[in-house]
Amino acid sequence: MQYKVRKTPGDTSWFVQDRFGMFIHWGLYALPARHEWVKNIEKTPEDIYQRYFDRFNPDMYDPKEWAAYAKNAGMKYVVLTSKHHEGFCLFDSQFTDYKATNTPYGKDLVKEFVETFRAEGLKIGFYYSLIDWHHPDFPIDGIHPRRDDDDIDELNKGRDIKIYAQYMRDQVTELLTNYGKIDILWFDFSYPDNVYKGMKGKGKDDWESEKLIATARAINPDIIIDNRADIEQDLWTPEQVQPDEWVRDSEGNLVVWEACQTFSGSWGYYRDETTWKSPEILIRMLINTVSCGGNLLLNVGPTARGYFDSRAVFALDEIGKWMKYNSRSIYGCTKADCPSTPGVKFTQNGKLLYAHIFEYPPFDLKLNGLAGKIAYVQLLNDASEVHFSEKDGDVYLNIPRIKPDQIVPVIELFLK
Ligand code: GLC
Repeated sequence: MQYKVRKTPGDTSWFVQDRFGMFIHWGLYALPARHEWVKNIEKTPEDIYQRYFDRFNPDMYDPKEWAAYAKNAGMKYVVLTSKHHEGFCLFDSQFTDYKATNTPYGKDLVKEFVETFRAEGLKIGFYYSLIDWHHPDFPIDGIHPRRDDDDIDELNKGRDIKIYAQYMRDQVTELLTNYGKIDILWFDFSYPDNVYKGMKGKGKDDWESEKLIATARAINPDIIIDNRADIEQDLWTPEQVQPDEWVRDSEGNLVVWEACQTFSGSWGYYRDETTWKSPEILIRMLINTVSCGGNLLLNVGPTARGYFDSRAVFALDEIGKWMKYNSRSIYGCTKADCPSTPGVKFTQNGKLLYAHIFEYPPFDLKLNGLAGKIAYVQLLNDASEVHFSEKDGDVYLNIPRIKPDQIVPVIELFLK
């Protein structure tokens, strides 16, 4: 089935095949370990936040281990926060001192990261925060940690967003030239309609998004750029929601999209956050996403010592066990062209149709409206034949009485 998807400047052909990626949120906020927005939430003054910079020393950082987790889970690409809203740069930028090389750790984290992940065959994306709560030229607004200070006019005096916009172009240039070919640029985010105490939010005019995007495209015309610089580009990015239909642009065209999701509520490492999703929910999210023609970018927030905490490792491992046997229903697949059946989610890759059984029935599994279309059926995890019969336009699959040992069992249907 070929869907007509909106054409965009970047090359998304590999992206829609790969379907599953790892997001990594890592920065100074891993030390307080209570949300990557901690500086905003607690309105932390600069001199207090500095204590995290002074102690940033991830002695157990091992990108090889990270890449192994990603690969084992079946992820094909990775998006790393090169700089988050706090302004701290994981990379060695010549345009700031606020970077990993000046912390006790002393090394460029991005360099090691890119080299390792690329060697493992994963595609590389950089998240880059448009928001910056450290840069002296970033005007204070409604989401800035200093938003409730008494002397805002004084604090805002002399801040020049044009200097900051140039800083972003310079840093994006560094990111796209110093680390080989980068596949995705993930800007975050714009809020032009936010007004707080008379302070206006920021959008494309503030970021000078056109120039920023042009800077990136001049270096790599194929790069996939998301929409969060307030100009539609290649990638639509629903966050912490699972669309149940293919995402569309404002004119109603189908688009390339990627749901981004956390294991728990926070993107950065959050020690005391306990609302972790079960492996089953996570696997269902992946299936749901692909069944609506999208990708899933699943986030890990590494600890301040540089390792993935056990809850993330557990979830990745369970996903990996499922992907080992069932990834054929994910890679290269998209929304299926067939009638729906309650309790079942379909994906499709050409003449192969995949039925993911969310509600395992006690008897035959009835698939609506597929009679006359099926040539052969098997369980995907072990390629064991599944007999089927047809009645009144529907197909009845004689699935095993005992649910296969798979978090979500998948049936592979060969279409005529
Ligand atoms: C949001 C948050 C941020 C996170 C991002 C991921 O915009 O500000 O912390 O990085 O979403 O999608």
